[in-house]
This record gives sequence, structure tokens and C-alpha cells, in this order.
Amino acid sequence: MDTKTTVISQAQLDEQLAYCDKIAAAWQQKGVTPKAYVETYGCQQNEADSERIRGILAQSGYAMTDTAEGADVVVMNTCAIREHAEQRVFGNLGALTHTKRRHEGQKIFLCGCMAGQEVVVKRLKTSYPHVDGVFSTHHLWQFPQILFLVLTGKKRVFFVEDEAGSIAEGLPQKRDSSLKAWVSIMYGCNNFCTYCIVPYVRGRERSRKSADILAECRQLIAGGCREITLLGQNVNSYGKDLDESIDFSDLLAQIAAIEGDFLVRFMTSHPRDASKKLFDTMASSPKIAKQLHLPFQSGSSRVLKAMNRHYDRETYLEKVRYAKSVMPELVLTSDVIVGFPGETAEEFEETLSLIEEVRYDSLFTFIFSPRTGTPAATMEDPTPKAEKNARFDRLCALQNSISEQIHRDYISKRLRCLVDGKDKELLTARTEGGRLVRFAGDDSLIGTYCCVTVTGATTWSLTGEYSEEK
Ligand code: SAH
Ligand code: SF4
Ligand code: F3S
Repeated sequence: MDTKTTVISQAQLDEQLAYCDKIAAAWQQKGVTPKAYVETYGCQQNEADSERIRGILAQSGYAMTDTAEGADVVVMNTCAIREHAEQRVFGNLGALTHTKRRHEGQKIFLCGCMAGQEVVVKRLKTSYPHVDGVFSTHHLWQFPQILFLVLTGKKRVFFVEDEAGSIAEGLPQKRDSSLKAWVSIMYGCNNFCTYCIVPYVRGRERSRKSADILAECRQLIAGGCREITLLGQNVNSYGKDLDESIDFSDLLAQIAAIEGDFLVRFMTSHPRDASKKLFDTMASSPKIAKQLHLPFQSGSSRVLKAMNRHYDRETYLEKVRYAKSVMPELVLTSDVIVGFPGETAEEFEETLSLIEEVRYDSLFTFIFSPRTGTPAATMEDPTPKAEKNARFDRLCALQNSISEQIHRDYISKRLRCLVDGKDKELLTARTEGGRLVRFAGDDSLIGTYCCVTVTGATTWSLTGEYSEEK
């Protein structure tokens, strides 16, 4: 395996775009507008990748549809983080044999993190013959070529060779929203937390040049975008692999300095690398959302060591205390794993006590899922499943009661929100901290910032009354 980042050249990109043109021309000659359906699983990285897949499909003449039924191309952009995620994909993939039978010529593609695992690729080769094309995240930029090969050849196409990873600028992109945008600032991960598959399927950490990121942000803001979320598995190590001397805090400050009315958020921050400089930078600009997703995974220092997280309970708590001291209004969220191999009842209690001490606004909770090829998959795991489930239920109950209390404390507060859509009869909006607020108001408010006074709260969301435009 090559260990260096490959930068895709303009000539390579042009070659790919030429495939799009050829495909579009062939459809045009037939006088048909073909339809494409892209289904996305997993995290925001995959959402961002799907926007590129849709961009490539649009450039190749496809119109997007929201069902696999009757689509000429179906793309499943998959997630490998837990077994459950993979089972769902295999189930839905199986069902596509029927849609394919009903629509002659339907071509089925599987990409994303599952396609980066040898075991999965083998299974697709032997048991899922109706899948026409498979490509891992490293090969996304070659999707035009893969699509062309599948449409013109008789053989199934697999672009799954492992590599350190590449950076491709300038791929077509079809964004889901003009109001909010994902901007990937880096790809891959070098952390190798012992439970996690991501470094194996997304390759080594590599940062985009700051000039490219800033140009993309400027263009988005000029086009009316009001909220940018910077993406990376560990945004705090941004820039370490670049020739330029820049870290994540510098990049954040430069983005916040762009003129315009917008907010910038980011995820995910690894607690090891989250620095005082980062928290001070966040506090210094009204354009940086006071929201932090800081996954702690476990409240036990012994478990954290076994997870290879490179911080302990106390350093984590110190960082949270500092962040809250400089940003009293900070909305804090996190990820936690229950039932890591060898987690004792006492160590689980430490996780609960950390949650009580920090009081997160909300948590993403997971039961440990062994992933083939990761060190934790072969660690001794004596805790019965029923016990893990019971721990999980206790943890969720605790977090729900905290979320409910925190939400209740919002009542009567006046919050500035970005109105982003409508759900049934009510407008939906997000506070600076990322909380969902529903309120009655005119459709013309969609796309604007306005103030809402909170009148009601549940565990998951807030309701309010429109105060004034702002
Ligand atoms: N890069 C991010 C996390 C990405 S994965 C970070 O380091 O914070 C999102 C979450 O999935 C992780 O934070 C972890 O809580 C969970 N996760 C990852 N692998 C898992 C596994 N094997 N079993 C259960 N949960 C897992
Ligand atoms: Fe996975 Fe750890 Fe990397 Fe996050 S930091 S993606 S949990 S290996
Ligand atoms: Fe899943 Fe890949 Fe994201 S494994 S969580 S889609 S990086």
C-alpha cells in the first residue's frame, strides 16, 4: 500500500469529467432523461460524499429521484461503524434484486466505508451478483469512469484497492441545501482507537489546502449560505500534514473573518487535541457557533487507555471546564460507548458520573460492536449481552432526564435561530447551539435568522413563538 497522499491532478479530473459528458451525450441521443437514486448511511462525511456522487450523476445527465423503484442508477453509500449498520445495508441491498427485476437496465452501485473492507467485498462478489459496481472512498473521484464501465461493459466493476488516500478538488457537487453546507476540511484518520474501523476504510489523515477551503466558504457565503459545518474525523489535527503553517484554530478564525451573516460549526473534535487556543478562538467570534461535539467514549481512565484515546478522565473534564468558563452558553454534545470489552460495573458507573458532572445537552449512545480487523474485536469480553443492554438503558434514562431538564431551562428565553424549513404546520429552526425549535410563522422567514421565545420543551426539541426578525 502506498503511504503518501495523492493529489488528483487537473488532467486526471478532466479525464473523469469527460466520462460524464460521454454518458450524458449517450442518454441525450436516446432522448431519455435517466433517473438516479442515492441512499446515504452513516455520518456527515458520507452525506458530503453523496453530494459529490449526485453532482457526478447530474453532470452525466441524471435527474435525482427519491426511490430505487424505477431508477436507472441506484447508489448505496454505506457505513461500517457498527454491525447493525452493515446488516441494514445488506438487507436493503437484497431487496434491490426485486427493483432491478422490475426495471430493465437498472444498475446498482455500492460505495462508502463498507466497500473498504475486504470481507465485505468478498461477500458482494459471491452473494450479491446484482450489484454492478463497487468502489471504496478512495475511488470516489473515479465514479464517472466506474459508471461508464458499468454502462458499456458486461463485467461487474470493482475499484477497491486500498491506499493511503487522495485529495480531489473540483469534483462536481450537488448540495442538498443552499442554506446550510458541509465543507470537508480533511479526510481519513490516524488515531486508530482500538474499536474503530474508520482508519482502515478511510485511510490516513490528510488536509485540504487552506486556500481551497477558504475559497469554497467564500463562494458559499456569497451564494446565500448561512451555516457552514466543517467536517473531519478529528478536525483538531487539521494542517499537521501540510507545508503551510496553520492549525485548526487559525483556519476557523480565517473563516469567521469572511464578511457576511453566517455561522460556522465543526465536527468532530478529538479531546486529546482540543486546545485552549481552540476554545479561546471559538469564544472570540460571534460567527463561530458555541457548540462543541466532544466525544468522551468512557468515563473510566482504564477503559480510555484500552481504547487508545490518549486522554484520561481528569484531562477531559479539565478541558470541558475551561471551554465552559470561556463560553458559558456552550452547547455540549458527545459520543459514548457502553460495554467496551472488559468494562466493569464500576467503570460503567464512572461513565454515568462523568455524564452527571458534564451535563451534556444530548448524547449519541452506542453499544460496543466488534469490527473485524480492529484490536478490540479480539479482546476478551466476558460481560453478557443482557448486562450491556441494561447498562445502556440506564445510561439513556440518565441522559434523557438531563436533556429534558436542560431543555426546560430554555423556557422563556429568547434565542436567535436560523429558520431552515417547515415540518407539518410549523417552521423549523436551529439555535446557535444546534437545538431544534418549532414555531408558527410565515414561510417567508425560511432562510432568515430570527428571534424565538421558547414556550415549551421536550427531551428532543423546543417550541416557541416568533419574536422579531433579526
Ligand atoms: N471521529 C469521531 C468519531 C467517528 S465514529 C471521534 O473520534 O470522535 C462515531 C462514533 O461511533 C464514535 O465516537 C464512537 O462512539 C462510535 N463507534 C465507533 N466505533 C464503534 C464500535 N466499534 N462500536 C460501537 N460504537 C462505535
Ligand atoms: Fe475512529 Fe478514533 Fe478516528 Fe474517531 S478518532 S474516527 S473514533 S479512530
Ligand atoms: Fe460510518 Fe464511515 Fe462515517 S464508517 S460513521 S460512514 S466515516
